[in-house]
Amino acid sequence: DWNMPDYIAEAVTAIREQVGSDDVILGLSGGVDSSVAAALIHRAIGDQLTCVFVDHGLLRLGEGDMVMDMFGKNLGVKVIRVDAGGQFMGHLAGVTDPEAKRKIIGREFVEVFQLEAGKIENAKWLAQGTIYPDVIESAGKGKKGHTIKSHHNVGGLPETLNLKLLEPLRELFKDEVRELGVALGLPHDMVYRHPFPGPGLGVRILGEVKREFADLLRRADAIFIEELRNTVDINSSKNWYELTSQAFAVFLPVKSVGVMGDGRTYEYVVALRAVQTQDFMTAHWAHLPHELLGKVSNRIINEVRGINRVVYDISGKPPATIEWE
Ligand code: XMP
Repeated sequence: DWNMPDYIAEAVTAIREQVGSDDVILGLSGGVDSSVAAALIHRAIGDQLTCVFVDHGLLRLGEGDMVMDMFGKNLGVKVIRVDAGGQFMGHLAGVTDPEAKRKIIGREFVEVFQLEAGKIENAKWLAQGTIYPDVIESAGKGKKGHTIKSHHNVGGLPETLNLKLLEPLRELFKDEVRELGVALGLPHDMVYRHPFPGPGLGVRILGEVKREFADLLRRADAIFIEELRNTVDINSSKNWYELTSQAFAVFLPVKSVGVMGDGRTYEYVVALRAVQTQDFMTAHWAHLPHELLGKVSNRIINEVRGINRVVYDISGKPPATIEWE
């Protein structure tokens, strides 16, 4: 149990001592950990920090602009945004296997990041938002003998960059990272966001990833999240975004028949997934109120042309996973 202003002061001193007058690069993903690391390091060394934000075209609606506004405009952090959607889509064309998709996204991410990092001449350090549970998890790797899914996060960037590692969150648990983020001035909503996988919508569009599918999914997902945030449960007085651990829409490349006005439609399906869990190793499907589900379904079908059917996933983990791929 530590006092936040003291903790920040200590961390700032430690970072300054560690890096001296060197420059630091950080891969910003828009997630909580890399965002808090960026805010903390920026507090310590200001313009010696450059963030690289790779937009792989598989982010949520408005996410790229949100990240740029928050860090660039509000916090005055140097951020280079790389719009690499075209490159990612190109390499993903024709690929349907989930693990193959993850590998491509991970590989392209490293390539794009390395290219940008190489342009920052005085950089000696690579900062990462590694937190304590990540340290434990990688220490335990190999003991389990296998990984069920390969997790390509922004972490694990290659040694070939020849940079020293700066990991100021290594000793913190997730809730401490969140508190730190708020104390550093990051918006509450961003710091308390649900986790989002590194490969992004790439694993929420089943089978081949296409830009058209990503655009439909982004809009459906944004409606779902908006309604979860706007619907308060009277018993707990929390909204359903807070009451769930992770919630999102999944794009199914399957067409089904519908009616619209006096016409027949033949469009795609979206599945909604919302789970409650402590550790993400096991999870229950969330018992969302039927009125909420009904409203989300109506809005998606009315507002997202190209989707004419919405289903709700009522599978627990195990046997289902949280993501569909
Ligand atoms: P599953 O689907 O395995 O997900 O039940 C458990 C948690 O892990 C996240 N997840 C990923 N995160 N890269 C990531 O960074 C990935 O490839 C990946 N796959 C799953 C998932 O969102 C959930 O929080």
